[in-house]
Parts: sequence; structure tokens; C-alpha cells
Amino acid sequence: MKTLTITRPDDWHLHVRNGAVLKTVLPHTAKQFARAIIMPNLKPPVTTVEQALAYREEILQAIPPGMDFKPLMTLYLTNSTTVEEIKKAVESDYVHAVKLYPAGATTNSDAGVANINALYPIFAAMEKYDLPLQVHGEVTNEACDIFDRERAFIESHLSAIHHNFPALRIIMEHLTTAEAVEFVQSTHANIAATITPQHLLFNRNALFAGGLRPHHYCLPILKREHHRLALVAAATSGNPKFFLGTDSAPHQTALKENACGCAGCYSANAALELYTEAFDRAEALDKLEGFASFYGADFYRLPRNTTTVTLEKSAWQVPESYQDNEVKITPLKAGETLSWKLL
Ligand code: DOR
Ligand code: ZN
Repeated sequence: MKTLTITRPDDWHLHVRNGAVLKTVLPHTAKQFARAIIMPNLKPPVTTVEQALAYREEILQAIPPGMDFKPLMTLYLTNSTTVEEIKKAVESDYVHAVKLYPAGATTNSDAGVANINALYPIFAAMEKYDLPLQVHGEVTNEACDIFDRERAFIESHLSAIHHNFPALRIIMEHLTTAEAVEFVQSTHANIAATITPQHLLFNRNALFAGGLRPHHYCLPILKREHHRLALVAAATSGNPKFFLGTDSAPHQTALKENACGCAGCYSANAALELYTEAFDRAEALDKLEGFASFYGADFYRLPRNTTTVTLEKSAWQVPESYQDNEVKITPLKAGETLSWKLL
């Protein structure tokens, strides 16, 4: 049996929600990953250090006994965020970054940033105190085609932010286009990016394969095949600017299979197996450890993990759903067969 042992990985972009959903999904992440960057787009959003610390406590309570897992907290940037709050975040041991959601770009982003240019004093403080900025890089202009919104964001905002704050560390989250890959590659080491499993495994045809497929709908939306190929090439290149961030985003099955279905793919149940499948198909298993276990930690200036995980090449079937009392969540590739299994 073929096996693969790598340093225990981390997930640098994860949604775990709170309440009952948190209890259902967190064990899936904790069994694979040592740490995860926890997204702050709760209702209401996590905008202060105080809220982040309370949310961290709730997450710690949801870790099954005996599992070793560290949540890394983030703040949700708004046009009301103050420099004082940035200083508090820098002084806190638990807040590792600040997330920029353009208002209206995605799930629970209504409270996000309506005027990016007005945030320049905040970016200046983050640059000065060396607090990383995580970016949901899509314009929200309704007139912009949904498949062009990432490219437009780079042209209209990200290039300027990078130009004005060259020492600010920026993570372009969930890359989906060849243009974004090129942007990250062409900038200096302060700009990095996460890549999700769904954007490595699927192109936009998956949204309509045999009918409308709500469980393939996430934002930024899946793109054409040439973009997927650019993402696979970047992830498997060994370039430390690209690292693992699942963007696993659980929604109740009924809210996905809906006349107006929510954006988000749930992948935490099999995240490492999904990435391993993508790297195996690209004949790049030797590049998985850097992408999954080293480059993110290095970029966030945290120590690399020291324990390992082992995967085995043996087929298994992804459950149709995960259910727990009032929670029912349908994972990516529900009912399908994966070729790698975490031991
Ligand atoms: O598909 C998405 N779902 N994209 C995001 O940016 C947010 C996420 C969520 O929170 O559900
Ligand atoms: Zn996300």
C-alpha cells in the first residue's frame, strides 16, 4: 500500500461558524490540522479583540478531548475599525491577521468595507506594526461580470494597496484566476496567497454538470479550466508564496439546496485528502508538504509543526452528509470516492 507521511499541516483559511455548527465541523479540522486561521464573518462579525478572544474560547470548548488544535484568530475590518483596535490586536497573543471583505462581496459581508481608500490609515498602522492583511479580492460592482471580479479587484485596489504599503504583508485569499497567480508571482515576498481544494479540483463546468450543483457554488466562483491549471501549477510549484487555505465554509444543506443557495463549499471533513488527490493527479506529491505544512507557517512567522500525519492510497467514500441534532451539512464530493485516506 502506498503511503505518504508529511509534517502535520495547518489550514490558513477556515470558517467554523459558532453554536451547533461549530460543534459539528470543528472535529473534522482538528483531526488533520494543528492550527487554523479562523475567519471572522460571524453574525455579528468579529470586529474587536475582545470578541475574538470570546470566540476563541467558544472554539476551544468545541475541541474534542485529547485533540491538539490551536485556533488562530482574525478581526473583521470595517470602515469603523480604529488604529487603537489594530494596536490591541498586535499586542494580543491570539489575533494573527485582519480580514478585508468588500461590503456585499460574499457571505456575511454586509458589514464589510464600503470604502477601501478610507482605510489607508489602518493599512499604515498594520504595516507599521506588521499585522498581516487578508483580502477577499473581488469587486462588488454589480456591473462587473462575476467571473471578472477577482481580476478587477487586483487592478482597481490590490495593486494600489501593495504600491502604497510595500512592507504590509498581504494574503490574497482563495485565488481563482491565472491573473491572480501572475500578480502574486510578480510581487515581492510580502504578498502570498491561499488556494482551496475546490479551485484545484474543479472548473466552472462543475457548477452545471448534469444540472445545477449548489455544493460547487462558492465565492470567488469557480473559473475556466485554464485558470484551474494555473492554480495547480502554482500550488505544486514549490513557490512558498502559495499555501493551503481550504475556505471550508459550512452551510446547512437546506440553505445550499435552495432557490437562493448560500456560497461556500464544505471541505473540512476531507481537506487534506482532497489536496493530496489534486497533487497526486499533478504528479507532485513531493510538493505537498511545503504547500500544506511549511509555507503558511513561515509567512505568518509561526513555528512549523513538528509531528506528522500519514495518508494511505486507499479508496473510500465521502459521506452524503454530516448530521448532528439540528445540523445537516453536505460536504464537497458527497457520496463520491476519494483515493487517499488519512490514517
Ligand atoms: O464561498 C464562500 N463562502 N466565500 C466566502 O468568501 C465566504 C464563505 C462563507 O463564509 O460562507
Ligand atoms: Zn472564506
